[in-house]
Amino acid sequence: MSLKKQYLIANWKMELLPKEERALLEKLPLVLKKKKKSLKVIVCPSFVSLVSATQIKKYSSAIFDVGAQDCHWEERGAYTGEISAKALVSLGCRYVLIGHSERRVHNNEDETVLRNKLQAAFNARLQPIFCIGETRDDRTNGKTLSRLRQQLSSAFSNCTMKRNQLICIAYEPVWSIGSGTPLNADDLTKEIQFIKEWLTTHLSSHPHVVLYGGSVDERSVSNYLSPKTGIDGLLVGSASQSVKRLSKIVSLMSLS
Ligand code: 13P
Repeated sequence: MSLKKQYLIANWKMELLPKEERALLEKLPLVLKKKKKSLKVIVCPSFVSLVSATQIKKYSSAIFDVGAQDCHWEERGAYTGEISAKALVSLGCRYVLIGHSERRVHNNEDETVLRNKLQAAFNARLQPIFCIGETRDDRTNGKTLSRLRQQLSSAFSNCTMKRNQLICIAYEPVWSIGSGTPLNADDLTKEIQFIKEWLTTHLSSHPHVVLYGGSVDERSVSNYLSPKTGIDGLLVGSASQSVKRLSKIVSLMSLS
């Protein structure tokens, strides 16, 4: 990783109860005490804990941002059970995950839905973290880069963004998520470079960051910290859901 800003995004998915998320949030001041300044930590709890998260951020000494795990594509309307990007911003959220493979698979989110969600987040001034990644079959069939190209171009085609809007991409190979098998840090340079080149070519007036996610934990995190990987940060699932493991990851990232 380079000396510029690094990102650590904690995706708590639907793994914890509100009281467990609150307990973790209350420990954040301790967890983040020794965090280096250039490490940007973004916590994405479930919807029901977003209010707690933004309040704890406001009233504690911990320096972190709050992200949601999803948003709807419309600004408001008769969409029972949904939450708009604007509502998230009004709570104090600054980030939102869009296109996570678990939503693509379990909620059938297709390219049109994802493009609309991305646009809704940009319109509401909520920073999207757009997730892309190939399946095991794509990789076996040598289709990794074409899958990434297709996901990027369908999401960002005709997207309206303000000048200098940051583009944040999380590269998460679907087969590595929750599998305990991360993509080896030495092996992902090609994908990270490909994504960065695509962004430089097609969205040249926008700064970008590219993160890696998929079974990163406290044992493997150091492998991703070399500037050689080209990675600007990490999106961590299960290893970010306990105080001990999250602390270890923050400390290791703060050493680099
Ligand atoms: P794991 O770190 O549990 O593999 O999850 C990765 C992920 O999906 C983060 O969004």
